[in-house]
Amino acid sequence: MEKTFYDSTPFEYGYSSKEEILENMNSNLKEVIERSYGKTITDVGCGCGRNLVYSSKFAQKLIGVDLSRQSLDFAKKFIQSKNLELVLGNNLDIPLKDNFSDLVISDGVIHHTGDTVRAFNECIRILKPGGLLYLAVYKKYRYYPFLYKYIGVFLRLLNKTKVGNFIIENTFVVLHFLMYKIFRKQKLSIKETRNIFYDYFITPIATFQSKKDVDIWINDSKCTLEKYDRTNGNCHVFIIKKGE
Ligand SMILES: C[S@@+](CC[C@H](N)C(=O)[O-])C[C@H]1O[C@@H](n2cnc3c(N)ncnc32)[C@H](O)[C@@H]1O
Repeated sequence: MEKTFYDSTPFEYGYSSKEEILENMNSNLKEVIERSYGKTITDVGCGCGRNLVYSSKFAQKLIGVDLSRQSLDFAKKFIQSKNLELVLGNNLDIPLKDNFSDLVISDGVIHHTGDTVRAFNECIRILKPGGLLYLAVYKKYRYYPFLYKYIGVFLRLLNKTKVGNFIIENTFVVLHFLMYKIFRKQKLSIKETRNIFYDYFITPIATFQSKKDVDIWINDSKCTLEKYDRTNGNCHVFIIKKGE
């Protein structure tokens, strides 16, 4: 598979301590993982594996799928669990059987695939009837879509040239790090805030969904919405049950 955007800037942050990852985890995600004791959990677009950490304590079988080899290599070293299998694969054509998993996690992924509906349907396909999908997607109505579209477009253009990338690395990445240092409680290294910066502004594909958009996908796939969490962040969270 060719090198992806997330191979050069894996979504790696908060990985200095596993405790910190758990502290910052969405409580709904924690809950569905706990409910999956002794079952199969699949994290599609697992990245560097932050959601695999807690899952590995509960799942009997745990699969992480991602398009980025670099991210999977990081996850392998970071988690070191016997019940974990890491698979290089595309969310748009997940290399797993139908009706396979009790819980599917899709945390901040399908909006980066270029075909959100197909990526969503693939997650549902590999779910067992009655199984749960934890889905976190970017909100449509917030300031972030505006920043991505109108400030991000300028940064993505700049990043296309060597000089532009030099400017980004030495000004924007540093300013972004300082903002985290001053305004955020969680103290992150510059490598971590750099990866967040790239994920937010330089990532080549990001789409934004309203609750209504996701409600339509849920209806069309004959699933039901168990829980909705608007959250305070850029993503909203859906706990979706596949029809029996
Ligand atoms: C923002 S990161 C989120 C990673 C992880 N879910 C987390 O919460 O830490 C997005 C991840 O989706 C992966 N990704 C993007 N498009 C993908 C696709 N078509 N198939 C599989 N993974 C994909 C990227 O490689 C990256 O690791």
